[in-house]
Parts: sequence; C-alpha cells; structure tokens
Amino acid sequence: MAAARLVDLASADAVEEAGRGLRFEVLEAGQRVGAFVVRHRGQLRAFVNRCAHVAVELDWQPGEFFDAEGRWLICATHGALYDPDSGACVGGPCRGRGGLKPLKVVEQDGRICWVEQPPFTAPGDG
Ligand code: FES
Repeated sequence: MAAARLVDLASADAVEEAGRGLRFEVLEAGQRVGAFVVRHRGQLRAFVNRCAHVAVELDWQPGEFFDAEGRWLICATHGALYDPDSGACVGGPCRGRGGLKPLKVVEQDGRICWVEQPPFTAPGDG
C-alpha cells in the first residue's frame, strides 16, 4: 500500500492554541474548496471550511474560527457551533445536519502537513 502523501502547509508555530487558524485549499472532486487548521488542546485539527447549515466559509475574519472563549468553532453567518476535536455540531442551526468534514494533518519536523486523502487532493496536481 502506497504511503499517504504529505503536503507541507506551514511552520508549526503558525497555528497557536485556540487562536488564529491557517487557511489552505484542497481539491474535492476537482473543485477547489477552502480548508483550515486550528490547534485545540495541543492537537492540530483540520476541516473543510464549509458550514453544515449553508455551504459558506466559517471564519468571521480570515483565519478566525474560534468563539470568544476559544472553546468552540463558530460559523460567522448564523452562529453554528462545532466541536474542534471532531467537527461535530454542538449547537445552533447546524443541529441535525452533521458537522464539519475532517481532514488529517500532522506535525512533523516543526512543520504542519496535510495528509492527502481521497476524495481530497492537493491543488496543482494537474
Ligand atoms: S451558514 Fe453557518 S450557521 Fe448558517
């Protein structure tokens, strides 16, 4: 089985605990979609940047995904709340609509890397 391909995104210190996240892009079935990485309880978490309520990006300022307490991820449009560990909806208009689509990221040699996994691929692969 081929090893999963790692896509280098940024220095590990670019994403602080419960602070500003890192936006990046992936291809989903050939379409460019937004994605993001945040750090929660020391762990990197990444998701497609698309609210489960309406298909819009979540951040209220570019890269700002956490609520005021740094506890939940919040959608700027109508206030849906998501668990930063799993992406599950925990309140608001996302209720009953699932949650955020998780992506896998790892921290390696001081870098944040996205682990490419179908159906998501890296832009620029032709
Ligand atoms: S679009 Fe995110 S809560 Fe409505």
